[in-house]
Amino acid sequence: MKKLSGRKKVKTAVFISGTGSNLKNLIKFSKSKKSTISINLIISNTSNAKGLKYSNQYKIKKKIFNFKKNNEQIILNFLKKNKINFICLAGFMKILSKKFIKNFKGKIINIHPSLLPKYKGLNTHEKAIKNKDKFSGCSVHYVTSKLDSGRIIMQTKVRISSKDNATSLAKKILKKEHKLYPAAILKIID
Ligand code: GRF
Repeated sequence: MKKLSGRKKVKTAVFISGTGSNLKNLIKFSKSKKSTISINLIISNTSNAKGLKYSNQYKIKKKIFNFKKNNEQIILNFLKKNKINFICLAGFMKILSKKFIKNFKGKIINIHPSLLPKYKGLNTHEKAIKNKDKFSGCSVHYVTSKLDSGRIIMQTKVRISSKDNATSLAKKILKKEHKLYPAAILKIID
């Protein structure tokens, strides 16, 4: 995707459900000179998301929505009103509907902690260890209505050591996620 106009950064909303370490990392990236996005909104499906604290810390508007079908138009209107042109899912635990995605065609991306197409859905680290995989990793991909199945933008591989458990592997991969997500954004928005 080309930048919308000259030097202006693309207005972005980050959707979260939890800790928000990817959100924090994306906010920091967005403030850098090389960033092609600005983070203008933090959206969560739950008020329990710890990452919502970054709204105060970085003075970014936040909003909590109940992601139900009959609420969708309200969310879309809100994004439109805030002139959002790009959406990054970061630990967002809801599946977006076809209609929602159609409204942001090719403009919603997600980060997933596995080497897709391997291990879509939850418990990716447990699965990689159980299967005695030598590598796992993370993927940034376009969001389609099929879970974790859209075109892959970039991936990073991580070696699984014999000492790894799901927790240690998650930690290793999360570190790589923080590098991968900005790189993937720069790859598609130049
Ligand atoms: C990350 O591992 C991400 O890949 C997955 O959920 C986790 C979210 O972590 N979808 P955080 O909330 O960004 O810290």
